[in-house]
Amino acid sequence: MNEARQIPAHVAVIMDGNGRWANKRHLPRTAGHRAGAKVVEKLLDTCLTAGVRYVTLFCFSSENWNRPADEINALFSMLDDYLQREVAPFRQKGVNFSFAGRTQALPEKTQGLMAGLVRDNLPPEREKLRLIMALSYGGREEIVDAARRLAQRVQNGETTPDQIDEAAFRGALYLPDVPDPDLVIRTSGEKRISNFLLWQSAYSEFVFLDTLWPDCTERDFRAALDEYAARHRRFGKV
Ligand code: IPE
Ligand code: IPE
Ligand code: MG
Repeated sequence: MNEARQIPAHVAVIMDGNGRWANKRHLPRTAGHRAGAKVVEKLLDTCLTAGVRYVTLFCFSSENWNRPADEINALFSMLDDYLQREVAPFRQKGVNFSFAGRTQALPEKTQGLMAGLVRDNLPPEREKLRLIMALSYGGREEIVDAARRLAQRVQNGETTPDQIDEAAFRGALYLPDVPDPDLVIRTSGEKRISNFLLWQSAYSEFVFLDTLWPDCTERDFRAALDEYAARHRRFGKV
């Protein structure tokens, strides 16, 4: 008897290689980011077709603040345009939005656009896929922020140190209701986690694609889902 194909409920993606894509073409790095933005819809279409319920995109890391101001400004102005104009078709496909990170550090305009998208989220019964954008996100910062939140709750007398278990800790993360990523994909040939979802990826499967993010196609994403489907997850058991 054939077992049902294993589909990840949550796919998280480190979209890497925009700068190298642009360099190869003697274009400014921002041209790579612009080309990369167009690939997101291909990923979403692949995931919607496959029945993936959550997609997290690593859009801007806490360490990316160390890039030149010009690149950062261009990225956020592109993101603003994207949130304003490009995501409308996603909504029609049943996509809802969430954001993870120290988003209070983002430009006010960007924060306003994000809040608007969340406000317009479809009711749960109409949600086909949740798109989570990690912005000004660092896995270590998320863990530190959770520890702070729990310490504050102890200080307020709302909990005690011995009540802090894994479930309580998870509850203090940015998006406690989102299940852990089953599959983490990184593009561009780099094989590292770069401070992404450190707590949540404890038992994720990793797929590394050599393709630069702006060159990725639905075929690459389907190949990653195929590779995931063939993996045997053991979670420490035999
Ligand atoms: C990923 O592409 C996008 C962001 C980090 C914002 P990069 O900009 O890191 O591209 P490379 O790694 O320099 O090629
Ligand atoms: C990780 O890519 C962050 C994002 C994709 C947003 P980076 O390009 O910043 O990671 P490193 O510096 O190569 O580790
Ligand atoms: Mg990079």
